[in-house]
Amino acid sequence: MSDDSVHIARTADLAAVCRLGVACGLEDSGRDEEQIEAAWGAFDGESLVGAIVLERNQGLETVNWMAVDDAYRRRGIAGRLYAALEREALDRGITRLWVTARTPAFFVSQGYDAAVEGAERDILLGECPRCSQFGRGCTPQALMKRIDHGGPSGAPQSEGATWRDRD
Ligand SMILES: CC(C)(COP(=O)(O)OP(=O)(O)OC[C@H]1O[C@@H](n2cnc3c(N)ncnc32)[C@H](O)[C@@H]1OP(=O)(O)O)[C@@H](O)C(=O)NCCC(=O)NCCS
Repeated sequence: MSDDSVHIARTADLAAVCRLGVACGLEDSGRDEEQIEAAWGAFDGESLVGAIVLERNQGLETVNWMAVDDAYRRRGIAGRLYAALEREALDRGITRLWVTARTPAFFVSQGYDAAVEGAERDILLGECPRCSQFGRGCTPQALMKRIDHGGPSGAPQSEGATWRDRD
């Protein structure tokens, strides 16, 4: 079910994105803002109730900081956030998106498959054993989606412009 009272927009407020992510159980392992290419928020009025970030991590285009406030889940908000990110990735000529997924079912619903053994998988999962959540509520999976054929569904084109554009 989609939720029309919530709108998706670019955001430059990375601190708020991180706060929401941590409140939703994500680990804050320290952010390198140089890695961040674009961030989106889901807003109910002025309130940030969801977020997602496109990052470039050691040469991999990755999805990060995806979180939706508990009270707003299973309404398709993460799907709308993800659609905005994937559209931007396509516009940038990105052909593959990667994720270290703690909720793999969401990404499988978006067309992701398990990343095979190799350097990319090591990049995506290499830091995980050092995380306090590893094996305690988080069993991450390395996933990848090719986006150079077909396209995302959902978010309208107006959910555009980089987070830096809003500075
Ligand atoms: C994962 C999360 C962002 C999903 O947000 P959401 O807005 O509820 O997701 P959507 O409503 O867009 O879900 C789309 C589909 O993804 C799948 N999905 C979403 N959350 C799921 C879950 N917890 N378990 C299994 N499948 C899930 C379902 O197929 C769902 O479709 P359905 O509702 O028709 O069954 C949210 O549960 C969350 O913030 N979790 C805590 C933080 C987290 O784990 N982030 C992911 C980091 S990789």
